[in-house]
Amino acid sequence: MGELKVEKHVKYILTVEKKKDDFESVVMEHLRLNGAYWGLTTLDILGKLDAVDKEEVVSWIMQCQHESGGFGGNIGHDPHVLYTLSAIQVLALFDKIDVLDVEKVANYIASLQNEDGSFSGDIWGETDTRFSYIAICSLALLHHLDKINVERAVKYIVSCKNLDGGFGCTPGAESHAGQIFCCVGALSITGSLHHVDKDLLGWWLCERQVKSGGLNGRPEKLPDVCYSWWVLSSLIMIDRVHWIDKEKLVNFILDCQDKENGGISDRPDDAVDVFHTYFGVAGLSLLEYPGLKAIDPAYALPVDVINRIFIGK
Ligand code: FPP
Ligand code: ZN
Repeated sequence: MGELKVEKHVKYILTVEKKKDDFESVVMEHLRLNGAYWGLTTLDILGKLDAVDKEEVVSWIMQCQHESGGFGGNIGHDPHVLYTLSAIQVLALFDKIDVLDVEKVANYIASLQNEDGSFSGDIWGETDTRFSYIAICSLALLHHLDKINVERAVKYIVSCKNLDGGFGCTPGAESHAGQIFCCVGALSITGSLHHVDKDLLGWWLCERQVKSGGLNGRPEKLPDVCYSWWVLSSLIMIDRVHWIDKEKLVNFILDCQDKENGGISDRPDDAVDVFHTYFGVAGLSLLEYPGLKAIDPAYALPVDVINRIFIGK
């Protein structure tokens, strides 16, 4: 059996952070704040967050904020809840949420709730259960769930539940493990998991494990390391993680490492990226791989960070 190449992955994340002009960075430019969350959370789980300049990151994040209170993916980009959650999460990692005008950020997120309880991602209006999760997770981290109508938000999420026990991005849309994470996460944060049929959903989720040990996101799809997060976190939240073969999944994730240069890919022998490196390491943390910090399955942040926010130091 292989082992997790911790030092190589740390080096890979730190190098990607510095290579701001190469092709991948140009393509990823508008995703920079999401990338910062993936990379920095990986470093924290690996116990190496100290390797980055905290003040420099915090100052850059604050420059991504728009006058509406929301954050763009990079300086000068339009605000969207996707980047606003990443900004809050990175500030949480650094214990720096206090640099925010919390009311202002919370009001921006709350302004995106629609009559039916759903959320738009930005002023242009597209709705998706991803945005419901993001709004609920962000507001919980800011201690401001009081800014929205939680009951309606929950009702909308429940209206996206399917006969197979899973959830889709809008009412009637097919079940997808990424959306299931969002819906189960939002229901977990709001104390509403009684709306989930745990046995039915647990069955659908554990069927995502294929022969190689990896997990896919929907029936008939190829396995992908990022689903180690979307599926596993959901199984943990509904208490059914013992329904999959954990050891086979650990081996699948380890097989997706670039053992020479660091980084993790979606499946063995593909090119690595920060997104899959994060979800691979986060998946291993959920699987209690030795030497990794524990991560919270609903908030997707290390458990010590979550404890600091909700219980105090
Ligand atoms: C699959 O994406 C994943 C999703 C649809 C869920 C995305 C969730 C968020 C953005 C919420 C924030 C997440 C965290 C961890 C804090 P994909 O586009 O790769 O799907 P595909 O495999 O079908 O292409
Ligand atoms: Zn993937």
